[in-house]
Amino acid sequence: MTPQGRPTPDPTGAGVPVAGRPAWAEVDLGAVAHNVAVLIERVAPAQVCAVVKANGYGHGAVSVARAAVGAGASWLAVALVDEGVELREAGLDAPVLVLSEPRPEEMARVVAEGLTAAVYTLEGITALAEAARVAGVVARVHLKVNTGMNRVGAQPGEVLTLARALDADPALRLEALWTHCAVADEPDHPFTAEQLDRFRAAVVELEAAGLRPPLLHVANSAAALVHPEARFDLVRAGIAVYGIDPAPALAGVAALQPALSVRAHVTHVKQVGAGERVSYGLRHEFDADTTVATVPLGYADGVPRRLSGVGGEVLVGGRRRPIVGVITMDQLMVDCGDVPVAVGDEVVLIGRQGDEAVTANEWGDRLGTIGYEVVCGIGARVPRVYLGA
Ligand SMILES: Cc1ncc(COP(=O)(O)O)c(C=O)c1O
Repeated sequence: MTPQGRPTPDPTGAGVPVAGRPAWAEVDLGAVAHNVAVLIERVAPAQVCAVVKANGYGHGAVSVARAAVGAGASWLAVALVDEGVELREAGLDAPVLVLSEPRPEEMARVVAEGLTAAVYTLEGITALAEAARVAGVVARVHLKVNTGMNRVGAQPGEVLTLARALDADPALRLEALWTHCAVADEPDHPFTAEQLDRFRAAVVELEAAGLRPPLLHVANSAAALVHPEARFDLVRAGIAVYGIDPAPALAGVAALQPALSVRAHVTHVKQVGAGERVSYGLRHEFDADTTVATVPLGYADGVPRRLSGVGGEVLVGGRRRPIVGVITMDQLMVDCGDVPVAVGDEVVLIGRQGDEAVTANEWGDRLGTIGYEVVCGIGARVPRVYLGA
């Protein structure tokens, strides 16, 4: 690191990318490990499943998965079979749960890669059993019950029938019953208790039939942090692993460290006079002489075009300065005011600089969305640089 805390260019990939634009996303794997440790301590004796779908919420699935497992996560979870295969190809051998039921034609791959499928239809169960039989293995499955989110999952009235079908097939083993919370990030919302009641009723029904699986799991990050009764045997934590509060209402509920920052170097600096305007549409007029810096990141990189219109700020020289004019595809402009700035200076879009920090949730609040969408949206062409690997 340079004295300014700027990563040193390094042909091996650590620090500012040598080729291309001076713009990058830094992922602090030490923060990921810290967050997993915080979760483990909070939810024990329940275990932690680190959710690394969507390329690890934009952070890089393989690197995050390695850091999470290294810090004690016992499970990984993904949305897609392809995402599970990526983990296996990188050498990760922890159990990997595929959170939505794979299509019948994907089941052979699920079995071949040793992934654990969520199931909730007879068609899925039949296809998985067939694939397991062909491969000569017993496939473990996690049966999902819909307790009111109404996205995916078997209806409560179907659970016993599906569990019986699983139990009757020697190629399958029912390892878990699970569900997903719709409003755990609103701590006072009564519907979480309602979902837990419906889940426990399904467990009792399976127990009465002698079919209770060894694992029960319900909680996402918010539930894991603030609803102890939702922890059961395993919590599926995504956003907290990345150090982002699951909702503004839960800010500070655990000592999480944000893992991702988005940084760039100023590529151009100019003085502009009062009355001049900036960017497409000339929508922003400067009311005083000022210094404008150009930053090589734009909406094609996941910096939403309208962030400038809703008060979006960056950090430069350790101070907050406004993004001015509409954000273009590859570049944006910052009114630096009296902050001294030169080509090559570091600008922080998300992350910390000096005593100031801009969080993904701050963008989310400004844009009427959530930190999840912000970090997942950081574009593929922004190189990820890993610290603490
Ligand atoms: C089924 C399921 N479980 C767990 C998670 C992790 O949620 P969070 O990132 O809020 O911890 C997700 C993410 O959307 C999910 O879809």
